[in-house]
Amino acid sequence: MTKPPVGSNRLGRKLGQKVKKGKLKASSRRWLERHINDPYVQRAKLEGYRARAAFKLLEIDEKHHILKGARRIIDLGAAPGSWSQIAAKVTNSTDEDIRVAAIDFLEMAPLPGVKILQLDFLDPKAPELLMEAIGGTPDLVISDMAAPTTGHQKTDHLRTMHLCEVAAYFAVDVLGEGGHFLAKTFQGGTERDLLNMLKQNFKQVIHVKPHSSRAESVEMFLLAKHFKGRKVQSADAEPVEAEADRAEDHSPASD
Ligand SMILES: C[S@@+](CC[C@H](N)C(=O)[O-])C[C@H]1O[C@@H](n2cnc3c(N)ncnc32)[C@H](O)[C@@H]1O
Repeated sequence: MTKPPVGSNRLGRKLGQKVKKGKLKASSRRWLERHINDPYVQRAKLEGYRARAAFKLLEIDEKHHILKGARRIIDLGAAPGSWSQIAAKVTNSTDEDIRVAAIDFLEMAPLPGVKILQLDFLDPKAPELLMEAIGGTPDLVISDMAAPTTGHQKTDHLRTMHLCEVAAYFAVDVLGEGGHFLAKTFQGGTERDLLNMLKQNFKQVIHVKPHSSRAESVEMFLLAKHFKGRKVQSADAEPVEAEADRAEDHSPASD
């Protein structure tokens, strides 16, 4: 079970620490204070994960079982690499038999069993290169991509939603039957057309908000489970009432 983080830890660092007023801008000081006092940051260090984001994936998996049995995983927006660490472990990926392909335009330190592409996922060559890197049909596509912030919240949301949408179409193009797709989105941000498309292609489409995703953040995850497979979609297929069965899941992973 993903244990709730504790108030202090075996690294010996106490929570509730203040950063001295000095050269830092107030906003940077607030960020730093939040970071060093974040129990998930401390737990990630303790457990050897590169980012606190690891616990979002682990928590979602605890409840929705998307990692079990996965043989090949594509990780979009992977740096610094905690989701890839988990993906390599669950697929038993090794450098001799690569089962995880990861992409990020930021540099990412090497990880055993992970083929890393330093490239923009929106680059037209990215899908083909990812498929070459993974060398077989993936059964899980995970995307934690968030567009770099511009300071203009609406623009940032639109850009991240665009990444989510492109990732979703990529997943539908490459996943094997029965596969799953998980992507970062925002509360109220997922377009109806995108939800309709996913609901036509997957048996279950829900939004999830793990506890490790900061409560004050509008971040959510879109989870599409059990890919139906690539069949010819009739152009005049009935649109699916996405909003009606859109489940929102705020319950703890340990439920
Ligand atoms: C929240 S971080 C991912 C953390 C990661 N899941 C982990 O566990 O370490 C989001 C990442 O998305 C990447 N990203 C954003 N837009 C991208 C794009 N167009 N192509 C590739 N990576 C992108 C960013 O560079 C950033 O590293």
